[in-house]
Amino acid sequence: MTETGRSGVVHTRSKPLERLNAWRKRSPLNPYWLDWLHQRRCVEALVPHARGVLLDVGTSERPYGELFNGQVERYVGLDYPPALLDKQPALWEILDRAAHSVDVFGDGNRLPFAAASVDTVLSTEVLEHLPEPRAAVREMARVLKPGGRLLLTVPFLQPLHELPSDYYRYTPSALEEIVRDAGLDVEAIAPRGNFASAIGALSAQYLLRTLGAKELQSDGSVVPSGWRNLLLSPVYAVVQLGCHLVSRVSGDTAIALGYRVVARKSGG
Ligand SMILES: C[S@@+](CC[C@H](N)C(=O)[O-])C[C@H]1O[C@@H](n2cnc3c(N)ncnc32)[C@H](O)[C@@H]1O
Repeated sequence: MTETGRSGVVHTRSKPLERLNAWRKRSPLNPYWLDWLHQRRCVEALVPHARGVLLDVGTSERPYGELFNGQVERYVGLDYPPALLDKQPALWEILDRAAHSVDVFGDGNRLPFAAASVDTVLSTEVLEHLPEPRAAVREMARVLKPGGRLLLTVPFLQPLHELPSDYYRYTPSALEEIVRDAGLDVEAIAPRGNFASAIGALSAQYLLRTLGAKELQSDGSVVPSGWRNLLLSPVYAVVQLGCHLVSRVSGDTAIALGYRVVARKSGG
């Protein structure tokens, strides 16, 4: 079985290794642990703002779907086949899995929904892949009911991924401007991680890319070398845990791993 994570790591695993792999992914032995931890917390912070019918634009494998259980009435995942397939050939295989996570295949730039038809639009780590992000956010605002909320996450310091479809990185000021331009009121824009966590996350990923990789692929993803990656695991852990501890006492957010946005459509 081939797995592709949001960070673009592709690796092959046999069924008995699935549980071990799931545990490793959530441990500092994984070079993407800090990145994963902060993104997970970032989405958890968005959950209380969701309600009613939620549309997840660019859902891919619906990685945060279960976080919204009990919070929303209905979770609708949308993804765009050309975007899903515009990746390395191995990703053809994710179509099969996407069939289980995607409810609607459609383009985020022309959402196949009536105006004012959903209560919440969620879109995590998608805006950087859209050549016209401004138009896409306007489209998300269009389908929101008055009083509905737009919940976004975007990367700031992240390696290029899903090339060639990786167009932008956003500052808080740019996010505020794009969301206001779509006619929404910005309620919160918050960093994900800080300077120290970004150093930790990027250092671990750099170690993977320079010492632990079997291959760097043209779409930006990494094929880890099994044994070198295993040998490096304690180093990933020390680097990430060290920076994580520092990040807990450091308030410097001049650099962050990314941002989350909560915005509201007026009325309702
Ligand atoms: C980096 S992945 C993020 C996936 C998931 N939301 C997450 O947080 O892990 C970007 C996703 O955006 C989707 N995407 C790209 N362009 C799109 C478009 N025009 N409309 C809808 N989805 C799009 C891609 O297919 C991909 O699943």
